Amino acid sequence: MAAKGKLYFGNIVDTNTIVENGAVEILKTEFGMFTPEYSWKWAFIQPNQGEFKFEDSDKVMEWAAENGKQIRGHTLVWHQNIPGWVDAIADQATLTQVVRDHINTVVGRYQGRVYAWDVVNEVFNDDGTFRASVFYRLLGEEFIDLAFQTAQAADPKAKLYINEYGMDYAGPKIDAMLALVSRLQSRNVPIHGIGSQTHLTSGRVDEVPAQLKRLASTGLEVAITELDIRVKRPVDDEKLAQQKQEYELVTRACLDLPSCVGITMWGVSDKDSWIPSTLPDFDAPLLWDSGFGRKVAYQGVDEAL
Ligand code: XIL
Repeated sequence: MAAKGKLYFGNIVDTNTIVENGAVEILKTEFGMFTPEYSWKWAFIQPNQGEFKFEDSDKVMEWAAENGKQIRGHTLVWHQNIPGWVDAIADQATLTQVVRDHINTVVGRYQGRVYAWDVVNEVFNDDGTFRASVFYRLLGEEFIDLAFQTAQAADPKAKLYINEYGMDYAGPKIDAMLALVSRLQSRNVPIHGIGSQTHLTSGRVDEVPAQLKRLASTGLEVAITELDIRVKRPVDDEKLAQQKQEYELVTRACLDLPSCVGITMWGVSDKDSWIPSTLPDFDAPLLWDSGFGRKVAYQGVDEAL
């Protein structure tokens, strides 16, 4: 899939998949852009204040470099996977310094080697209000400005993204995102892209092309950053045939939109997906089955190209 059409195709990679034969061959041949699944998240990199652990994240960076692959850095400021010591911070000045230090150290380490950073991830609740993370509670909306400005200074060449899920249909969340981006733009915050995670439920994908267009109307580049289409158990051939059509529709939605730069899938094989353990009523969200055989969904993507 890599390098077909104007899009990049991406996938997740991490220290687990780099060593798994079935996954690594597919990653190398089919994809050109990689998002570290876990090892670049805050609690992995800075579990204790000032104690930075880059062993695993470096392995991912080296793997990408050796194989001529690009990286989307994921993620700098997120309410999940933050260590307890960050959650326990109670004053603005300390948190501001901690956010600056984290971003400077992480972005600085990979300066010039990262295509894009998911600078902030999942800042909204589904009703469009801000999540009451420690960042929002202490710093208000301006924690987003702080994160983007710091990242920009640490790596002026990287594209800086806001990343979010649940923007696949009309509703308060995508409205809130469009309003926020407009405020960020009016404050001259250095933001370059909107990442739509696109974790979809089969049967609820029809609005993706229209909503992606709305995101593009901001003038920013857009990317599908974490695509999977989960199927309700029990999975059968009919449901997988529908999933194929849906993969085709989503791929075409990005392809048809001039500012949509690429599609990252959140995994290779159904057996390694985060879905069954997180949403146990669902399964089979990806393009390869548990034996790394191509599903019909793979043809769906191919037929869109
Ligand atoms: C998930 C990973 O896939 C899991 O392995 C991990 O345990 C939790 O995080 N949105 C995101 C991703 O932005 O970082 C999440 O990844 C999936 C939802």
